[in-house]
Amino acid sequence: MAEPVELSLRVNGHPAELRVDPRTTLADLLRDRLGLTGTHLGCEQGVCGSCTVLIDGRTARSCTTLAAQAGGSTVWTVEGLSPPAGLSRLQEALSAEHGLQCGFCTPGFVTAATELLVASRGGDLDEAAVRDRLSGNICRCTGYQGIVDAVLAVLAEDVATLPGADAVATGPDVGELVEPPELTPAPVDPSGPADRRGRASAVAAEVLAHLAVFVAAALAGVAAWRRWRR
Ligand code: FES
Ligand code: FES
Repeated sequence: MAEPVELSLRVNGHPAELRVDPRTTLADLLRDRLGLTGTHLGCEQGVCGSCTVLIDGRTARSCTTLAAQAGGSTVWTVEGLSPPAGLSRLQEALSAEHGLQCGFCTPGFVTAATELLVASRGGDLDEAAVRDRLSGNICRCTGYQGIVDAVLAVLAEDVATLPGADAVATGPDVGELVEPPELTPAPVDPSGPADRRGRASAVAAEVLAHLAVFVAAALAGVAAWRRWRR
C-alpha cells in the first residue's frame, strides 16, 4: 500500500488537515472523511457532473480529482453553497420551477449554476447560453427545462447574495465555453493499417479464387467417377 500523504486544504471555509491514501479521490475524501455527502457520485468517470464542486472558484469533477491534487486549495461543496437554514435563492427557484425530481443531479447543478450565475454577473445570457454552460451536467428526470428556467429567473436578480458567491472566481474567461479544437483528418501512412487492410483483402480474394477452382475440379472429378461406375 502506498504511503499516506499529508493534506491541508480549506473546505467550505473551514481548514482541514488529513492524512490520506494518495489514491483517494476528492469525492471520497469529502463524502467518507468529511461527511459532506451532498456531493453525489454517479458515473465516477467525469461524465455526469453530479460530483461537481468548486476548487479555487472553478467547477471541477471531484470523482476524477485526487484529494492530493486539491492540497492547498479552497474547496466548496453544495453544503457551503447553501444557507445555514432554509434554501438559497437558487435552490428556491429550482424548487419553484420544478427543476428537480429525484434530486440526484441537483447538488452538481447548484454548484455549476452558482459558478455560471456569479461569473456572468451583469452578462446577458439567454436560454441557449445557459443550456450550453450547464451541458456538462446530466439530469435523467427533468428534461432540463425547469433547471434552465430556474437559472434564468435568478440571473435577473442580485446573485452577489447567493451563498458561496465570494468563492466563485470571476474574470473574462470564467464561464466562457472553450471551443474544442477543430479536428483534421490525419494524413494516410502508406504503410499504415489502411494499406495493410487493403493488402489483406487482396490476399483473401486470391485465396478464394484458388479455392473456387479447386472445388470446381473436385466436383468435375466426382461427376466423372459416377459416370464410370455406371
Ligand atoms: S460522478 Fe463525477 S462526473 Fe459523474
Ligand atoms: S432530478 Fe433526477 S437526475 Fe436530475
